[in-house]
Amino acid sequence: MCGIFGYLGSLENPLSACLEGLKKLEYRGYDSAGIAGLIKGRLWALKESGKIAALEAQIKNKVPLEIAIGHTRWATHGAPTRENAHPHFDEKETLALVHNGIIENYSSIKTFLKQQGIKFFSETDTEVIAQLVAYHYQSDLLKAVQAALKELKGAFAIALIHKDHPDTIVAASRECPLAIGFDDLKKEILISSDPNAFLGRNLNVAYLQKDEIALLQKAKIEIFDTMNHPILKKTEKLYGQNLLSTKKGYDHFMLKEIFEQPFTIQKSLVGRLDEGLGSAHLPELALSNLDLTSVRQILITACGTSYHAGLFAAELLEETARLPARAEIASELRYKNPLISRETLLIAISQSGETADTLGALREARARGARILAICNVKNSTLAREADAVLFLNAGPEISVCSTKAFTSQVTLLALFTLYMARLRHLGQKEGKKFLRELSLLPQIASEVLNQSGRLEKLALKYSQFENFFFLGRRYMYPACLEAALKLKEISYLNANGYPAGELKHGPIALISQELPVIAFAAKGPTYGKMLSNLQEVKARGAPLFAFAFEKDRELEKIADDVFYLPRISDELAILPASIAGQLFAYFIAKERGREIDQPRNLAKSVTVE
Ligand code: M6R
Repeated sequence: MCGIFGYLGSLENPLSACLEGLKKLEYRGYDSAGIAGLIKGRLWALKESGKIAALEAQIKNKVPLEIAIGHTRWATHGAPTRENAHPHFDEKETLALVHNGIIENYSSIKTFLKQQGIKFFSETDTEVIAQLVAYHYQSDLLKAVQAALKELKGAFAIALIHKDHPDTIVAASRECPLAIGFDDLKKEILISSDPNAFLGRNLNVAYLQKDEIALLQKAKIEIFDTMNHPILKKTEKLYGQNLLSTKKGYDHFMLKEIFEQPFTIQKSLVGRLDEGLGSAHLPELALSNLDLTSVRQILITACGTSYHAGLFAAELLEETARLPARAEIASELRYKNPLISRETLLIAISQSGETADTLGALREARARGARILAICNVKNSTLAREADAVLFLNAGPEISVCSTKAFTSQVTLLALFTLYMARLRHLGQKEGKKFLRELSLLPQIASEVLNQSGRLEKLALKYSQFENFFFLGRRYMYPACLEAALKLKEISYLNANGYPAGELKHGPIALISQELPVIAFAAKGPTYGKMLSNLQEVKARGAPLFAFAFEKDRELEKIADDVFYLPRISDELAILPASIAGQLFAYFIAKERGREIDQPRNLAKSVTVE
């Protein structure tokens, strides 16, 4: 799960071009980084564990590379050491190769190559590809790569250079994205795991698919399919600026993104409210009303935070649009045998649009006939390209690995889509208008939570010394609990669980003690009374209790050690203020504990392997 970048051309120093490209791909992993290039028939390479900054710090002088390939790694096979960093080489160091993905049969190939007397220097699956290409190499690099790829099982995007082939990069892809960018005269040819790393260059872009291999040479691009037939690829012009994100005075990108939410929620609403009709206005939906009224089942798939938005949406769709709807974790869905037909609408939610499991589930659902609606933040992403229709979050780049503003925009957009479906089916104009009014309050509601961040910080600090946490809520507050617990785990490295409050007594209540604070999200609504009883049960067993509530309540104040009031909004949408409070709570605890908030250990912004 990594980022690949490569540069072939004379307009820029290939080493600097690669370094700059890799910085834009660091969201795909930051365990180690490396670059390899050619100078006068010699291979040059530099690798370092840790972030790209650590690699850059090693480069003291200008290195006049003729071409270069680079890599930023999220470790799968082997620890995040310099030895395991890419690029990897064959034993004789004739070629260098970078790889994104996982080779499932690497172990048997490695055993075979070892039997041939070949020595290995790393624990990675990637080195196996490099050694296998060298094993097949006679003098034709393309043929050697083609022969090697035939033996590989798994998913990959690769790029390699060879000392006897100046001005040549060979690139290939199976299931992992790889974009080729080039100017009209092909004075420079670039490759990248993500075309957004080309922004600002105004390049033509082609995407490699299904085992296609590209032979990139000076001013020349040739692409071949598995049968070695040349293919003419469709290209598109990629315009857009290279937007530099800064922290704008905040200590972390995460905090900046949390505070952007009134604005980003507004951006996901703007132009999408049809006040006259009491419905949503979604011209980009690209699915006709006929398509949508023929939908009999909605299946939502996503991972992590996006999955929590999906859980919320499934409940809201079923309740408001009266359509059978359920959310499934993408890595599970893709290996099930789900009932999907042409009447199924699959909603795939992903901030990045590059999450391998979500893409896998989408492809599986499509093969079974489903239509695909994507809810996505990143334009030009694989998800946006593969879906039948896309609703973009318009939240702007989310840099912090811990997702915040994307989540609240997903929730907002999914609520809008629900309203659209409900109005198409049975919801009256009057009810539609009421729902719309609540939706349009969301930016203001977000501001009201943020305005109280000072008090929330004090309370978070009070709880920051505990090692374990329980988040409890019911119905719409359950995904809010899962999300708050995920935030805390991810950036503070503390153990936190989100649970439906009513389920606690069926086992987990055994964990309750004075050492385990319970954080409760108590939304007003039909289950409020039950929630209070559940909180009594944990209080009776000595748990420190911190409750978030939406309406002043003396009884709750008597049970809880601390109560924090969130602005009132309809029950269905209360997940939004609750989640913002959860984000701040996690942030302040992580900060107090001195964690690396924007790039927590072991994580990557976009998870591009299974
Ligand atoms: O880009 P995606 O929305 O597909 O990413 C899915 C998850 O990897 C992501 O939400 C992850 O759980 C976040 N780091 C949570 O903050």
